[in-house]
Amino acid sequence: MPDTSLMDKIVSLCKRRGFIFQSSEIYGGLGSVWDYGPLGAELKRNVKNRWWKSVVQERMDMVGLDCAILMHPQVWKASGHVDGFADPLVDCKECKKRFRQDNLTDTKDPDIRQCPSCGAKIDLKTSPARMFNLMMKTSLGAVEDASAVTYLRPETAQGIFVNFLNILDTTRKKLPFGVAQIGKSFRNEITPGNYTFRTREFEQMEIEYFVKPEEDDKWYEFWINERFDWYIRYGINKENLRIRPHAKDELAHYARACSDIEYKFPFGWSELEGIANRGDFDLKQHSQFSGKDLSYFDAGENKRYMPHIIEPSGGVDRAILAFLVDAYHEELVKDETRVVLRFSKELAPIKVAILPLLKNRPELVGMAKDIAEGLKKDINLVYDDTAAIGKLYRRQDEIGTLYCVTVDVQSLEDKKVTVRDRDTMLQDRIDVTQLKEYLINKIS
Ligand code: GAP
Repeated sequence: MPDTSLMDKIVSLCKRRGFIFQSSEIYGGLGSVWDYGPLGAELKRNVKNRWWKSVVQERMDMVGLDCAILMHPQVWKASGHVDGFADPLVDCKECKKRFRQDNLTDTKDPDIRQCPSCGAKIDLKTSPARMFNLMMKTSLGAVEDASAVTYLRPETAQGIFVNFLNILDTTRKKLPFGVAQIGKSFRNEITPGNYTFRTREFEQMEIEYFVKPEEDDKWYEFWINERFDWYIRYGINKENLRIRPHAKDELAHYARACSDIEYKFPFGWSELEGIANRGDFDLKQHSQFSGKDLSYFDAGENKRYMPHIIEPSGGVDRAILAFLVDAYHEELVKDETRVVLRFSKELAPIKVAILPLLKNRPELVGMAKDIAEGLKKDINLVYDDTAAIGKLYRRQDEIGTLYCVTVDVQSLEDKKVTVRDRDTMLQDRIDVTQLKEYLINKIS
């Protein structure tokens, strides 16, 4: 059973505490487009930085890239998106809504489908499906004619393929090697939904890993395991992850094989990331359409061939949603419900909160502010004196802050502060002169 109440709680927390806002909310919102608030922006940066560190910085066989969103329109011809990136849509004459054909219910008659919301029957003979391309069109320059049309990229991958020669020339990499990129993609999704799970503007974290043709199976398996483990390393419970290989009839036009890493969202098991074996489809297509030879010269074997490509392709927004859902815990503490986001120390948006016990004692406030000043260069922290201490702790638990440092009356005398751990709620009394080292040891 989908747990809609858990999803409602997470959506409400994200809005209330500044993780995620609806786009253009004061104008009534824009469908399926979301903004990240102050805490969401920190969380997002942490997720992207950890991905980049794992797949670029810590690997000698990978380099990074950052391509433009706009590309030559021929790219999308070669990639197959102009002709193939489309969903079949059917209009319902009763409720006047438009549906994806595969979301309608079959009936005994293969031409008749039933509408999910209004229940009307649709006759595909009189209301045939029409293909609707998911790419967002735009035009470049002052004249809006057909020659000016291009698209907002629907995936970041193509920027990597078309730069293959530039990367070979500038980095002198030998197979196997990979290129990683993080960036925005756009799709005019017909059935967006489930909060930030399926949106029209989203961010991808993609790797294109170039291999010798005979080694593609090995690297395909390698990357499935590597990416599965990454989510666990940063806090996802293994029980909530699974690998689902695609059936032959599910494969995209470019893929020889594909497996999804799925997360058990409150609305059911759904795709977090796909790992595809794209074979030599992309380099061949771009060679043909651009007239440039994108093959690779293997000096060891003294021959030229098209590398095969393994593509682990994840969504930043989906990863964030999974990390949020997995971190969300409610527990009973002294007959009260404590809501706590148990983010990993790497992903927690705020690492430390500095809290004076009494806000009307200027010496306490002064000491707490001095401590915050002394730490802020090394630790992402907040200072808060706008409520009583119990409430301040609850606020920090709810956003996943790792440690709360409390300055009390005793601190003025003994120059020690109380450090409270988010998960155990245990408290340590630490000398102010030792505080930075103590906290840095805990969070790094
Ligand atoms: N280059 C391959 C590719 O783009 P995809 O399965 O269409 O493959 C890869 O997308 C990942 O991008 C998905 O696993 C998902 O995490 C993310 N993604 C795709 N469409 C999305 C959307 N409409 N909203 C949010 N994330 C999306």
